[in-house]
Amino acid sequence: MNMVSIIEKKKLGQELTKEEIEFFAFGAADGSIPDYQLAALLMAIRLNGMSRQETVHLTLAMTASGDVCDLSAIPGIPVDKHSTGGVGDTTSLVLAPLVAACGVPVAKMSGRGLGHTGGTLDKLESIEGLSISLSEDAFIRQVQEIGIAIIGQTKNLAPADKTLYALRDVTSTVDSLPLISSSIVSKKLASGAQGIVLDVKTGAGAMMQSLEDSIELAQTMVRIGCDAGRRMVALVTDMGEPLGSHVGNALEVKEAIDVLCGRVQGPLLTVALELGARMLMLGGKADTLEEAREKLVDALESGRGLEKLRQMIRAQGGNPACCDDVAKLPQAPVILPVPSPSSGYVHRMDTVGLGNTAQAMGAGRRTKEDVIDPSVGFVLNKRIGDAVETGEAIATVHAKDEASAQAAIAAIQQQVIIGAEKVPACKLIHAFVTDESITRY
Ligand code: URA
Ligand code: CA
Repeated sequence: MNMVSIIEKKKLGQELTKEEIEFFAFGAADGSIPDYQLAALLMAIRLNGMSRQETVHLTLAMTASGDVCDLSAIPGIPVDKHSTGGVGDTTSLVLAPLVAACGVPVAKMSGRGLGHTGGTLDKLESIEGLSISLSEDAFIRQVQEIGIAIIGQTKNLAPADKTLYALRDVTSTVDSLPLISSSIVSKKLASGAQGIVLDVKTGAGAMMQSLEDSIELAQTMVRIGCDAGRRMVALVTDMGEPLGSHVGNALEVKEAIDVLCGRVQGPLLTVALELGARMLMLGGKADTLEEAREKLVDALESGRGLEKLRQMIRAQGGNPACCDDVAKLPQAPVILPVPSPSSGYVHRMDTVGLGNTAQAMGAGRRTKEDVIDPSVGFVLNKRIGDAVETGEAIATVHAKDEASAQAAIAAIQQQVIIGAEKVPACKLIHAFVTDESITRY
């Protein structure tokens, strides 16, 4: 097999064979193909696309390039959920305990924050003592024993994606449907879950801003997953503004606990219940959406969901005291209101900007070496469509010092965009995508 001829073929827009795709995916994983050839091929794929069959071959080759987690020792149908990345998007910490409390094993491999988006692992690590590094055996044992584990990806998961993703990042080839789809789905297939619910974000804060592109991404990923023999469906949900009101690691854990205690409702719970209901159905514990929603609400109201979170925190070495007293989570020293610079209605949010504000405060990393401050971030008091008065607190910042607080206040005043006319609230759920159908809401 010859890498130059593979590049040549894709340059001319021709379809690559399974063997050619495996050649470069395995070569990316083991370092036998130089970066310049991989980069040229990535650009040819970005410009000329890939067929459904090529995308499936690429995904399966990337999955096979490393370890595949075998969850067959877990009774029932282990399920996972994956979000394409959001701001204030804490659905995993709400839905995973609820789904597990309904008897569907949740075996979840999560990621860290990326760019302006937050990551479940960073949030979990704001809980005192909690570890997200479990061996595959410990992961499986924990799911067998308590029905839930959320851990980081094991080391050798889809190594082809590690190489290709790093190259895409520096060659302007991230925004390619087959490359995004194969990257995400290969890691999900390797992490072993049989049922996977994708939460594809759409809108200002999402990877795909237009609804049609988001639906196409969802459909491409679901088809690959189903072709690979897994149960996979997707919801396309809104990221035109942060989903929850809390942005920042410990703040988002607090919000998830508030929701699981029944103290807080709203969009975070709504979207978590919709995603969770699809997980119950994939996991075979509900026949209809209605039944699934009822079971989840019962797990919430009975406190079984919160108890499941406590069990998980304890099993992973953490101190579950925060479940009973959220003040035990890390607290920022400087807490200040963000006064509204004008009156009217919230028209838009610069969701990417808000994510970057949290990151600049210390809630995310700018370089791989940065250390996260779990305590910092902000709480938004308004959503799109809400009325505001000049001087009213549109948000509260939780900062490490006065200078950081003032910088965040100035940024948030720009990032929450206020106008004179009344505007409607955002729709939360835009579409449901299966292998066979697209339902728009
Ligand atoms: N997340 C991934 O894991 N891969 C992509 O290509 C984009 C987002
Ligand atoms: Ca393995």
